[in-house]
Amino acid sequence: MSTAAKNTQANTYTDFHLQYIAGEWKKGDDDSINTNTNPFNGETLVEIQQATDKQLDEAYQAASDAQKQWAKQTPNERAAILYKVVSIFDQRQDEIVDWLIKESGSTRIKAMVEFSSARAITLEAASFPNRVHGEIRPSNTPGKENFIYREPMGVIAVISPWNFPLHLTQRSIAPALALGNAVVLKPASDTPITGGLLLAKIFEEAGLPKGLLNVVVGSGSEIGDAMVTHHVPSLVSFTGSTSVGKHIGELANGGEYIKQVALELGGNSPFVVLKDADIEQAVKAAAFGKFLHQGQICIAINRIIVEDEIYDDFVTRFVAHVKTLNVGDPNKADTAVGPIINKKQVASLKEKIVKAKDEGAKMLLSGEIKGQVVPPHVFSDVTREMDLSCNEVFGPLVGIIRAKDEDDALSIANDSMYGLSSAVFTQDMAKGLRFARGIKAGMTHINDISVNDESNAPFGGEKNSGIGRFNGEWILEEFTTLHWISMQHTPRDYPF
Ligand code: TAP
Repeated sequence: MSTAAKNTQANTYTDFHLQYIAGEWKKGDDDSINTNTNPFNGETLVEIQQATDKQLDEAYQAASDAQKQWAKQTPNERAAILYKVVSIFDQRQDEIVDWLIKESGSTRIKAMVEFSSARAITLEAASFPNRVHGEIRPSNTPGKENFIYREPMGVIAVISPWNFPLHLTQRSIAPALALGNAVVLKPASDTPITGGLLLAKIFEEAGLPKGLLNVVVGSGSEIGDAMVTHHVPSLVSFTGSTSVGKHIGELANGGEYIKQVALELGGNSPFVVLKDADIEQAVKAAAFGKFLHQGQICIAINRIIVEDEIYDDFVTRFVAHVKTLNVGDPNKADTAVGPIINKKQVASLKEKIVKAKDEGAKMLLSGEIKGQVVPPHVFSDVTREMDLSCNEVFGPLVGIIRAKDEDDALSIANDSMYGLSSAVFTQDMAKGLRFARGIKAGMTHINDISVNDESNAPFGGEKNSGIGRFNGEWILEEFTTLHWISMQHTPRDYPF
């Protein structure tokens, strides 16, 4: 898309202080207010009066009503809406990227990565209506035929996080809608616009019928449980922390109504550099895979594990490279590390820095924390038992662990309760593949970073990183359900 074509969009969206329920923009009825701020300069972007449980119920009823008709639309009618959304993405690229920078503290580089991922999954979802198919299976009962229909789930509840708000919301709502479902979405309180209201504007402009997409802005601790336990949704698609994910899993299956859950949770990605790796390439990869979006990515590199022979060389070159990264204003094109999403996360990172030093890690690189901007912190002499290794950092701090040999590196890589993404660097592809297959994780990238997401490849984790896979036919199956219908053509001979 040329700049000229992009700029033909004259009117930017407004009214982000309202809820989107049943196809109408309306004020939240709760007394509490979400004050949405720019994490870099503290500017108030919008104040949103939050939704009540009654408004949540209204959203679910609207979704349930609208879904019945939507499921009957032809595949091409549903696909057309998704293609229109892609075209609006292209027309409004600058507007969307600007919101990602000012609301989520994305650097311009990260905002473009996120925009491209969200666009790609929308395009992939546009193919889903025509890819859904059933089966005819043979029957062992004389005169019977078995038909297996793949049907929409109905209404899907989506709860999304603040770190990749546009993409991690869109990768649920675009497939859900394409497959004939309706959606009630609760974006994260730090990113109600890029995680929800902006997408609602886009789908509305694309002509999505009223009621199919509802965006309810409210705090997870206030309306989160009601979102999950409400009788209408048959599936809850949650992306966020493992602790909240566990809570949602319990609620979804422990209450009056049983619901399916798709849980994309925390990670602790190992980045392993074996002794025969291209060290220079591994250094650049490690810096990008660790510091993109200030490390606030579930698949960001959390532990760098380097084989003994090259450890010192890698550490020296890594520190030298990280020193060159620009830190500060996310709006500048060459900024690599921007602000942390909120003060609570900054406080948690400060604690982690103190703890790393207390535990004996050697701090090789640090810098002054200004406002919510935390510069890269690099630690060597980190062991697998230290906090930096055991827990998800979700910030621009990293520990480098020394492995005795390849087996030790694999053992360290697997020493985690998480199993989301991972990476290994080696120039021996056979060794790389063997090593990758030894890692208990949903995703492993050889000679690349753990931060990868392709709309046609399965994205998801093992162990405490969640249940299910996004993208491609995996999400197509997850957001549909099966209905076995048999047809008895000749009278069956019953024993009594
Ligand atoms: P969470 O605190 O878990 O928040 C995620 C979402 O859950 C937000 O919308 C939040 O709403 C909501 N929520 C909070 N309490 C809830 C409850 N009791 N019931 C229902 N919803 C509730 O995570 P976060 O701090 O935003 O994100 C960081 C974590 O998410 C990290 O661990 C990261 O690894 C993980 N994450 C994982 C992935 C994937 S793909 N696996 C992707 C991104 C992030 P409020 O904002 O209103 O509290």
